[in-house]
Amino acid sequence: MRNFDYHTPTRLVFGKDAINKLPEVMSQIGKKVLLTYGGGSIKKLGLYDKVKELLKDFEIVELSGIQPNPKYDPSVLEGVRLCKENGIEVILAVGGGSVLDCSKAIAAGAKYAGDPWDLISYKVKAQAALPIVDIITLAATGSEYDCGGVISRTETNDKIGYMDSHLYPVCSFLDPTYTFTVSKKQTAAGCADAMNHIMEQYFAEDTTLLNDGFCEAGLKSLMVNAKACLANPEDYRARAEMMFACTLGCNGIYSLGNSPSGWPLHAMEHALSAYYDITHGEGLAIITPRWMKYVLSDKTVDRFVKYGVNVFGIDNTLDKYEIANEAIEMTYAFFEEVGIPMHLKDVGIGEERIDEMAHHIAVNEGLDRAYIPLLEEDIAKILRASL
Ligand code: NZQ
Ligand code: ZN
Repeated sequence: MRNFDYHTPTRLVFGKDAINKLPEVMSQIGKKVLLTYGGGSIKKLGLYDKVKELLKDFEIVELSGIQPNPKYDPSVLEGVRLCKENGIEVILAVGGGSVLDCSKAIAAGAKYAGDPWDLISYKVKAQAALPIVDIITLAATGSEYDCGGVISRTETNDKIGYMDSHLYPVCSFLDPTYTFTVSKKQTAAGCADAMNHIMEQYFAEDTTLLNDGFCEAGLKSLMVNAKACLANPEDYRARAEMMFACTLGCNGIYSLGNSPSGWPLHAMEHALSAYYDITHGEGLAIITPRWMKYVLSDKTVDRFVKYGVNVFGIDNTLDKYEIANEAIEMTYAFFEEVGIPMHLKDVGIGEERIDEMAHHIAVNEGLDRAYIPLLEEDIAKILRASL
C-alpha cells in the first residue's frame, strides 16, 4: 500500500432542500457574489429564482451562458474581468460540472495579475483563489468534491485538466431533486463519466482489497441507479445514490494507497472533446471497451477477471480470458443499454483527424508512463477501433 497525504476541505450539504442553508454558508464568506450558470436549465428548474430569493441581501453579479466543455474565451476571461471590476468576494456556481469547472478557473484567475492561461497551463502556480460555493445540478463529474476544472481552448484544440488545492469548493450543495430534469442523454453520460472515474482508479498495478471493494460497489451502484433514473427520472432514491456515487468519483477517495494508473481514458477523451466538442461521458463510454480489449494481456488479465466476477457476477470457474472478454462485452452492452451512441462516427468523429489527435495525446498526456503504457501508435489504434 502506497503512502498518501489526503485532505478534502469541502463541506457537503446533501439532500432535499439542502440549499436552505445557502445564506448561512455564504454570509460567512462574503457579500459580493459572482453567480455563474450555463444556458438556462437553472431558470427552467426554478433554481435561479430560489437562489436570488435566498440571497436577496447579497450583491450579485452574473455570468451566464457557460457552455458544456467550458471555454477559456470568452467564459473564463469574462468571469475574471467581472471579479476584478466588481471586487467579488465569492463565486457561486449553479449548474453542472462545466459551470463549476469554469468557476474554478475564474477563481484562480481573479487572484492573478497576468493571463489566466498561465495558471491553467501550469506555467505559473496559483498563490490564491476566490472561495467557491456550488449547487450542483447534474450527477457526473465529481467536480463538487475535487480541486480540478477542465477548460477548453478552441483555437489550439486544448482541453486541460487544471488541478490546484486552492480550487476545492468551500461548500457544495447537493439536492437530488434538482437532477430530476436532467435529460436521458446527460443522465447516461454522467453515469459513464463517474464509472470511468472509478475504472481509472481500479485498473492500476497496486491496489488494496478495501479499495477494490469500494470501487466495485461504486460501479454496481452507478449501473443500477442510472437504469432506475432513466426508467423514472423522479426516483429520488436512485437520483440521490447516483449523485453521491458521482461526488466521490474524482477526488481520489476510491484509491487512497493505490498506485496511479495515469488515467489513460480521460487523457484520450479530452482530445476528442477538445477537437469535436462532444459530450465527455459519451466519448469515454465509446473508447472504454476498445481500450479494455487493446490492453487485455497476461499483465492485466487478473484485474479484468476480478472486475468481471465482482462487478458483473461472471462465473469465476471459467477460463481467465473468457471471463475478461465477457466483462468487456458486458461493459459495452451496459453503455449501449442506457442509450449511449457507441461509435465515434455516431458523435460526428471520422477518420480524418485520428492521427492528429493521437499525436496531440501522445505529446501532451504522458501516457507512455502510464500503468499500461500507450504510445502514439497504440492511441491511434484504440481511436480507430472506436470509429
Ligand atoms: O447549460 P445548462 O442550460 O445548465 O444545461 C446543461 C448542459 O447543457 C445541462 N444540465 C445541467 N444540469 C441540468 C441540465 N439540464 C437539465 N436539468 C438539469 N438539472 O446539461 C448539459 C451538460 O452540462 P455539463 O455541465 O457540461 O455536464 P457535466 O456535469 O457532465 O460536465 C462536463 C464537463 O466536466 C468536465 C468534462 O470534461 C466536461 O467539460 N470534467 C470535469 C471533472 C472535474 N472537474 O473533476 C472531471 C471529469 O472527468 C470531466 O473531465
Ligand atoms: Zn470524467
